[in-house]
Order: sequence, then C-alpha cells, then structure tokens
Amino acid sequence: MRTLTKIIVASIGVAFVAFHWSTVNFDPETLRGARVLVTGASTGIGEQMAYHYARFGAQLVITARREKVLQQVVDKCLSLGAQKALYIAGDMATESDPDKVVEFTLEKLGGLDYLVLNHIGPTPFSMWKGDIEHTRWLMKVNFFSYVQMAWKALPSLEQSKGSLVIISSLVGKMPWPLTAPYTATKSALNGFFGSLQHELAMRNSNVSLSICTLGSIDTETAMEKTKGIVTHAQPAPASEAALNIIKTGATRQAELYYPYRTYIIALIKAWYPPATNYLLQDIYNYKP
Ligand SMILES: NC(=O)c1ccc[n+]([C@@H]2O[C@H](COP(=O)([O-])OP(=O)(O)OC[C@H]3O[C@@H](n4cnc5c(N)ncnc54)[C@H](OP(=O)(O)O)[C@@H]3O)[C@@H](O)[C@H]2O)c1
Ligand SMILES: *[C@@H]1O[C@H](CO)[C@@H](O)[C@H](O)[C@H]1NC(C)=O
Repeated sequence: MRTLTKIIVASIGVAFVAFHWSTVNFDPETLRGARVLVTGASTGIGEQMAYHYARFGAQLVITARREKVLQQVVDKCLSLGAQKALYIAGDMATESDPDKVVEFTLEKLGGLDYLVLNHIGPTPFSMWKGDIEHTRWLMKVNFFSYVQMAWKALPSLEQSKGSLVIISSLVGKMPWPLTAPYTATKSALNGFFGSLQHELAMRNSNVSLSICTLGSIDTETAMEKTKGIVTHAQPAPASEAALNIIKTGATRQAELYYPYRTYIIALIKAWYPPATNYLLQDIYNYKP
C-alpha cells in the first residue's frame, strides 16, 4: 500500500480498536455437543472451521462436492475431538441438493444449532465478457442455495435457539473489479440476509443471524486466482478467520469484519467513496 493509504487506514484503525476489544466473551464450552452444519468445508476457511468446531467437541456435518476430500476432513475432525463428524456430498448449483443436505443433517444430528453457509463456486478473476450462463450458475451456488438452506433449516434453528451464519465478503459492500459475478452474489447475500435480520428481530425469533464480512484471507484459491494482479497487504490466515467466524456465531453477534481493517475500508467507502477508488487503484496491478 502507498503511504497515504497506510496512514488513513492506520489512524482510523487506532480509533476503533478499543471498540473492537469490548466485544462479548466467547465460552468454548457452549460448543460442546453443538450440532453444526458447515458448507464448503472440503477446503479453505470452511475446512478450518470444521477443525475448530471439532476441537470444541461439536457434532458436525460437512458438505461440498468432492467426496474423497470430505472423507479426509471428517477423519481429521474425529481425531481432533469431534463428538460426531459426517459428510454428505452435494452440488449447490442443483435444485435438490441444498434441501437434501439440510435433511440429512437434521436426520443424523436430530436437530441443528449452527448453520454455517460458506461455500462458493469457482469463478474466473478477469474482465466480464458477457458470460451470462456462468453468472446465472454462480448466483445459484453462491446465493440461491443459501436462501434455500436457510429456509429449510429455520424451523429447527427456532426450536434450538440456534444460529445462522453467512460468510460474505468486503466485495459485497464495495464492488471490486475483475470479479463482477462474484461481487453480485455477495451483494445479494448482504441484501437478502440483512433484510432477514430485521424480520427475525421483528417477530422475536429465537434465531440469531450473523453476516461475516471477510477481507483478503490466505486460502489457496483466493491467493492463486489473484496472484500478480492484486497486491494483498498481509492476507489474514484462514484458520484465524475461521475461529473469528465461529466466535461471532456462538456469541450471536449480527456482524463480523475480519481482518479488522476490512471494517475501516467499509467505513471509508460509506463516508467518502472516492477514497476507495484510490485504494483499488493502489492494490490492483492490471495490464490490459
Ligand atoms: N479467501 C478469501 O480471500 C475470501 C475473502 C472474502 C470472503 N471469502 C469468503 O469465504 C468463504 C470461503 O472462501 P474460501 O477462500 O475458503 O473458498 P475455497 O477455498 O474456494 O472453498 C470453497 C468451498 O466451496 C465448495 N464448493 C465449490 N463449488 C461448490 C458447489 N457447486 N457446490 C457445493 N460446494 C461447492 C468447495 O469444495 P468442492 O470443490 O469440493 O465442491 C470448497 O469446499 C466464501 O464464502 C468466500 O466468499 C473469502
Ligand atoms: C422459541 O423457542 C421456544 C422454546 O424455548 C419455543 O417454544 C418457541 O416456539 C420458539 N419460537 C418460535 C418462533 O419458534
């Protein structure tokens, strides 16, 4: 980052750190025996979440498309201390699999305390050249399946006073170039689940809904895809991101920004949008 960017981010950051530290205490014991479904858990942040939940002694169902990888993650979860760990393979682009995965979980765990929606379909990091089919497909995977699974799980979450956790991204609050379809799916998540947060509150629902806004995280897919084009100022570790998401759900908070500078960038975007244009020019190294 250029010096000016650094100064802006750092100075505002200092002002908010105290606020950040005043957040609610997390008690890991509350997760012992908790019934959890994590999507997109074959790799990346989802995989790391599975391991944390396992260490806390949760009962887990994980899902993604690749059965072999899921099996390995399940084995590791059991060795880390999960009370239960099961997988079900499913493709979130299909109409039936989102329901199927939730039904499987309810049947195997006898209910649900945490639904953590995290999966994303692979998408190119390049200029949009009119690929409508891909955009439609990505919307199914990254958005519609979230809506479908949330709806399917809601009655069970009401019963258990459970939590719905949505993994979104800074791009959902502030559009980034070279990733228009992905950005659209994340904006859609923020809009839909932001609206649902109000509705749950309006009808005194038992369910807490957390929307997690992540900045750059060092997962293999994200780093590979943006290599040479985006200069990531210290991408945050996936395992830390995963732990912060779990704490946010367990303490029933409405929002998470991780890493913390993500919050500051979102604030700058809200207060003075042109400053974020400068920021993007700063970190993109795009040669047509
Ligand atoms: N990494 C970052 O820098 C970053 C930044 C902001 C937000 N986030 C958010 O964090 C979350 C996790 O990101 P990540 O980097 O950990 O992603 P990732 O490593 O690419 O993992 C994506 C997961 O989704 C699964 N998946 C892909 N297509 C699927 C489909 N059609 N049906 C079902 N599952 C499918 C993948 O497994 P299979 O291939 O086996 O299906 C994998 O488990 C996402 O919501 C992402 O938007 C990440
Ligand atoms: C909230 O939980 C209680 C059980 O503690 C249950 O009786 C009630 O029906 C739940 N609320 C809704 C809206 O389902």
